[in-house]
Amino acid sequence: MKTNKKTTSNCNPFDFLTEEIIFTILDYLNDDPFSKKSFSLTCKALYSIESHHRKTLKPLRAELLSRTLHRYPHIEHLDLTLCPRIEDIMLNVVSLACKDALCSINLSRSRFFTNIGLSSLVSSCFNLVEIDLSNGVELNDLAAAAIAEAKNLEKLWLSRCKLITDMGIGCVAVGCRKLRLICLKWCLKVSDLGLQLLALKCKEIRSLDLSYLQITEKCLPSILQLQHLEDLVLEGCLGIDDNALSTLQQSCKSLKTLNMSNCHNHSHVGLSSLINGAENLRELTLAYGPAITEDLAKCLHTFSGLRSVKFDGCLVKCSGVRAIGRWPRSLKELSFSKCSGVEDDSLSFLVRAHKELTKLDITCCRKITYDSVDSITSSCRSLTSVRMESCSLVPKEAFVLFGQRCELIEELDVTDSKIDDEGFSFMMFIAGTETTANTLEWAMALLLNHPKVMLKVKAEIDEHVGHGRLLNDSDTVKLPYLGRVITETLRLYPPAPLLLPHLSSEACTAGGFDIPQGTMPVVNAWTMHRDPKLWEEPDEFKPERFLGGFGELEGFKYIPFGTGRRVCPGAGMGLQIVSLALAALGSIV
Ligand code: HEM
Repeated sequence: MKTNKKTTSNCNPFDFLTEEIIFTILDYLNDDPFSKKSFSLTCKALYSIESHHRKTLKPLRAELLSRTLHRYPHIEHLDLTLCPRIEDIMLNVVSLACKDALCSINLSRSRFFTNIGLSSLVSSCFNLVEIDLSNGVELNDLAAAAIAEAKNLEKLWLSRCKLITDMGIGCVAVGCRKLRLICLKWCLKVSDLGLQLLALKCKEIRSLDLSYLQITEKCLPSILQLQHLEDLVLEGCLGIDDNALSTLQQSCKSLKTLNMSNCHNHSHVGLSSLINGAENLRELTLAYGPAITEDLAKCLHTFSGLRSVKFDGCLVKCSGVRAIGRWPRSLKELSFSKCSGVEDDSLSFLVRAHKELTKLDITCCRKITYDSVDSITSSCRSLTSVRMESCSLVPKEAFVLFGQRCELIEELDVTDSKIDDEGFSFMMFIAGTETTANTLEWAMALLLNHPKVMLKVKAEIDEHVGHGRLLNDSDTVKLPYLGRVITETLRLYPPAPLLLPHLSSEACTAGGFDIPQGTMPVVNAWTMHRDPKLWEEPDEFKPERFLGGFGELEGFKYIPFGTGRRVCPGAGMGLQIVSLALAALGSIV
């Protein structure tokens, strides 16, 4: 049994623990990161031993992969989503270092590898059960054939692998018999034939995502015969219409979630055939599909297990909403986001029957007023999330009802609503916590991974604050380098990478593009912050690039707090909290 080195002057009892005991403690603390952090502060041996115990790794830099994997010899789950450039040679390094210990690998944001790298990975890591190859737009059937050698594979993500055809899927079907989940979203070359083969060979499939595939009724009977199928996504499968669905006899009993968003070519008649017999159905998404009529609501009446229903973007009839209000059991989640036709009377009737609702989305339901909010808040006291952007007829008094009646609420989206100070102070708490905590966590991770930057931060604190007293908020202005570290952290990891969605209240032109009224443009701050045309070495953590500090940034290339009229009002406070917390940590380590 290996014992840690000790000096006689060190009398911390934790430092005398053997490696095996620390492993046992770490196993015990695995699901409790806070206690793990506390333990690491009391036990010096933790860090060196932890690297031998660590099972999960998300490296920041591909070029250090070989060294990193050498340091962590027992990695089971490797997430390479922060390393966009992964070449075959690096997959070779992973195969040699991880061998049969590796269970899952996420390559969903990585490119530049081919079937050769995949082959070496799969042949060395024969215990692989999960591979995420999403966005592998250059991967072809040869890559699929390489994956087919992973005989123990249970989960495979291939979304946007647009070159993979029925041939590739056929190889996977024959090779990976243990598959339980497969995502083929946007694999546009996969057709009925490939899916029939998959359903025939991989009987264990529980989860199947076929979004945007050009499939027809031909593959549905084989899919619905999968005995264990629980999640089926048919989003945007336009070939599936009432005619196709009417031929179906029986759905699979095991089906729990069905997503038929953006399927415009079916009505309640086709839907009834598809879910006939799916007595365990719990979640149904019909966004941007057929109108929500009384007939459609009635066809779902018998599914007493239904807990979550999403009708986003559908035309909603009042009689349909009332019929949902007559369902025998309360829903937990309901979404009418951007539905036209939702009115006070019918919505109030519905929420009075669905008292157990925890999530409600009524974004852009422009006809609802104070009455709906009154009924929602008095009936559904367990609400944790309410989204009601652009409900422009709701007066400001209504928002206070959420604070008064729904104690469990964690998320309230009231963008473009008539909210006043009282309602706003309640909201501030929600908007300010996650963002700040997130920034702090990334800043700490980056500092730990960049020891030279860490030393500079410490030197600045030592020079301007010293050790004889506690740090206070007026000290942070004396720490410009720390400010740059936070600015750079927010560039690399903006807590709201797509900012917040807003709806254009009138038509306008932006950057030469005509934006009609009612459009929801999404601003991708993440991409702008890492655009090589705007930043030198965009993926590198270099606080020095902000020599002028936070205020002196040109143009709109840096927008972690958004910009313009809806810019984050808590930016100053957020920065101050993060600076204080980091500086306080820096002064004690
Ligand atoms: C590092 C910390 C923070 C970051 C990175 C951050 C980021 C953001 C972003 C990107 C938006 C959306 C801007 C847009 O739509 O264009 C936003 C909105 C908002 N933030 Fe923050 N935030 C932070 C801290 C805070 C704090 C501490 C508070 C409150 C005490 C706060 C309150 C709000 C509110 C109320 C909005 C909505 C403003 C509106 O829609 O008009 N934020 N924030």
